[in-house]
Amino acid sequence: MKILVAGSTGVIGKLLTRKLVQAGHEVVGMTHKLERKTHIQALGATSIVVDVFEKEAVLAAVGAVDPDVIIHQLTSLSNGSIEENARIRIEGTRNLVDAAHAAGVQRMIAQSISWAYEPGEHPAGEQVPLDIHAPLPRKTTVDGVAALESAVAEIPEHVILRYGTLYGPHTWYDHKGTIAQKVMQSQMPATDGITSFLHVEDAANAALLALEWPTGPVHVVDDEPAAGTEWLPVYAAALQAPVPALQSGRNRGERGASNAKARGDYGWTPLYPTWRTGFAQSLERGQQERL
Ligand SMILES: NC(=O)c1ccc[n+]([C@@H]2O[C@H](COP(=O)([O-])OP(=O)(O)OC[C@H]3O[C@@H](n4cnc5c(N)ncnc54)[C@H](OP(=O)(O)O)[C@@H]3O)[C@@H](O)[C@H]2O)c1
Repeated sequence: MKILVAGSTGVIGKLLTRKLVQAGHEVVGMTHKLERKTHIQALGATSIVVDVFEKEAVLAAVGAVDPDVIIHQLTSLSNGSIEENARIRIEGTRNLVDAAHAAGVQRMIAQSISWAYEPGEHPAGEQVPLDIHAPLPRKTTVDGVAALESAVAEIPEHVILRYGTLYGPHTWYDHKGTIAQKVMQSQMPATDGITSFLHVEDAANAALLALEWPTGPVHVVDDEPAAGTEWLPVYAAALQAPVPALQSGRNRGERGASNAKARGDYGWTPLYPTWRTGFAQSLERGQQERL
């Protein structure tokens, strides 16, 4: 298949682009930074330079590539701004979907998240409504997710990958990542909030497999949603950071997500089924690669 990967230089996109090429697909990777063209080419793909906010340029580029499938792995998280990330979800996705319509693209796979649900006591299933009545700042994220998902759903065949919180190489949880730094400096207490994690390698694998998955949203999360009081001490130990302080309470919507659909219905098997072993494995591997 001919596949356009929007976000091919991102933390998931890089792994995914290589996997798609290895699986025999013709891959075109998109970046808005000219100097990253060579990074994409080194993965075995061809590259195009387009800013997703420039509508006419996106229409022209998607028309020229004429892909069978678009995989949307765009985020804008490098500076940690939830407003910028919501903007790329809303405006960037709109431009990409309009370009897909114009080029007659029949299938789109898009990155979303698994923690935008209404509050609840149990890990969410995909049928739980999004938390559209959340107060700010959470509302900014939920509105972005809702706009992204409804735009992508205009494409006849679409898979919305509601990913868990990413860890692994080059993520915020890697040695030099934002979260790792906070935990090293004892700036992150362990709360009752529940998180579903996902190793970045599993995120990329799921996007490859989603070429064959049915239309609709699906959680791509590990097997063990867990409270901060459980996972954070394990993560801190793997980082060789101080033991985190405990703090009762949780933020709105911190309920985790179930992977019953991906595992049970689609037969997805994560390489890293739990953070319990996954944190240490990925941090050790990162350490070895740096030596
Ligand atoms: N589910 C999760 O928990 C989750 C998911 C994703 C990321 N993250 C975290 O966020 C951190 C940063 O993510 P990241 O490294 O993937 O970087 P990022 O800055 O969020 O960029 C992701 C992708 O979007 C592309 N992009 C951004 N703005 C664009 C624009 N205007 N036009 C076209 N393409 C654009 C980037 O390409 P160019 O900049 O090359 O144009 C890149 O390929 C990661 O370390 C990870 O921990 C978490």
